[in-house]
Amino acid sequence: MEEKLARRRVLLVPVPAQGHISPMMQLAKTLYLKGFSITIAQTKFNHFSPSDDFTDFQFVTIPESLPESDFKNLGPIEFLHKLNKECQVSFKDCLGQLFLQQGNEIACVVYDEFVYFAEAAAKEFKLPNVIFSTTSATAFVCRSVFDKLYANNVLAPLKEPKGQQNELVPEFHPLRCKDFPVSHWASLESIMELYRNTVDTRTASSVIINTASCLESSSLSRLQQQLKIPMYPIGPVHLVASTPTSLLEENKSCIEWLNKQKKNSVIFVSLGSLALMEINEVMETASGLDSSNQQFLWVIRPGSVRGSTWIEYLPKEFSKIISGRGYIVKWAPQKEVLSHPAVGGFWSHCGWNSTLESIGEGVPMICKPFSSDQKVNARYLECVWKIGIQVEGDLDRGAVERAVKRLMVEEEGEEMRKRAISLKEQLRASVISGGSSHNSLEKFVHFMRTL
Ligand code: UDX
Repeated sequence: MEEKLARRRVLLVPVPAQGHISPMMQLAKTLYLKGFSITIAQTKFNHFSPSDDFTDFQFVTIPESLPESDFKNLGPIEFLHKLNKECQVSFKDCLGQLFLQQGNEIACVVYDEFVYFAEAAAKEFKLPNVIFSTTSATAFVCRSVFDKLYANNVLAPLKEPKGQQNELVPEFHPLRCKDFPVSHWASLESIMELYRNTVDTRTASSVIINTASCLESSSLSRLQQQLKIPMYPIGPVHLVASTPTSLLEENKSCIEWLNKQKKNSVIFVSLGSLALMEINEVMETASGLDSSNQQFLWVIRPGSVRGSTWIEYLPKEFSKIISGRGYIVKWAPQKEVLSHPAVGGFWSHCGWNSTLESIGEGVPMICKPFSSDQKVNARYLECVWKIGIQVEGDLDRGAVERAVKRLMVEEEGEEMRKRAISLKEQLRASVISGGSSHNSLEKFVHFMRTL
């Protein structure tokens, strides 16, 4: 059987963004370790440059002519619409070429839920296709009912000012209207159109989800009732197959800085690969962090402060504040940072990868979501897993200071830390032999063998 598997190839298609490339590469490594050959089909735009870890993988390029500026100018939602249109035909050509070279070797196409262009090509070549959901099961459920709830006026407050969006959504406890995955980047109509496409399983033979049942059992049950095809929660994939997936160079000097700090004394601030901050928000955050009296390690990604290439246009006061308690890098080895004993809390935008990585290391969080699924994750961190404090409304130094002290100094934070450690143990148990994600992965591999 292993010999047969060694000749079967899986073609994986990621969304060209860090938060989607990482879980897709971790899934690819997982399948490789299970005996499959791997091909990654990626765009030129934001492509992943493979390290030595991937020497046995084949990488192919999907031709497209998306200008680099599109992503910034259009925002993620409109960009995804455009990407799907642009790649529909070129991916078919790409698959056609692979088919000529490899023929029956290709067992199936696994594509990120947001690059649904891959489905039409797989269908044309009569290849089974599998959807990989790189966000949470709860966010998936929210996307799948969005249209209906909106048509029934349940989500109508989303058109109103934020203050009127605090109503709990019936049957979605504890989610409020404002926690539903919308984004300021695009109109509700455009978001709903994207969601209709991502949740439509079309001809897919199964769905893999990067989550574990200890985190989202009720959302998973709900989703399984809705999907008419098998569903495999096999995550978190970063704990199943660890592998370098960063698009940017990691500055490891922060680990040396962390080595000099006391246990649980540092708050790590990192807002993922897409979030943008205004200059005044950066200044308020810096002041609040400073007056909390905690040490902080802060990732400020180039281009993430609106109107500044990096931090050069920030007021002079910024460097003064930072030189006291802070250490700044452009990009960190985030998983290594979160596993460092000096790190006692994580100030995060609550992207799904950051959420899983923090739980996987037992680090409680301060949640400041920006858009989409981050809001769902933040609400779950605060109200379901009870390992997070959400900062709502405009960022001001007082709110930052208060949240940091609650998490890092007060009894409340200590209780969250204990719960986070307990959740970490459950999460880690789910990916080892006998655990729910491990069992799901075994079932998925068995299913792949039948293709
Ligand atoms: C995007 C969406 O914003 C997110 O909501 C969705 O769940 C996935 O796609 P992103 O904003 O980049 O992702 O956030 P996240 O999902 O947290 O992924 C960021 C990744 O970058 C994490 O794996 C994190 O470890 C990594 N990272 C971040 C670094 O390696 N170094 C850093 O300095 C910062």
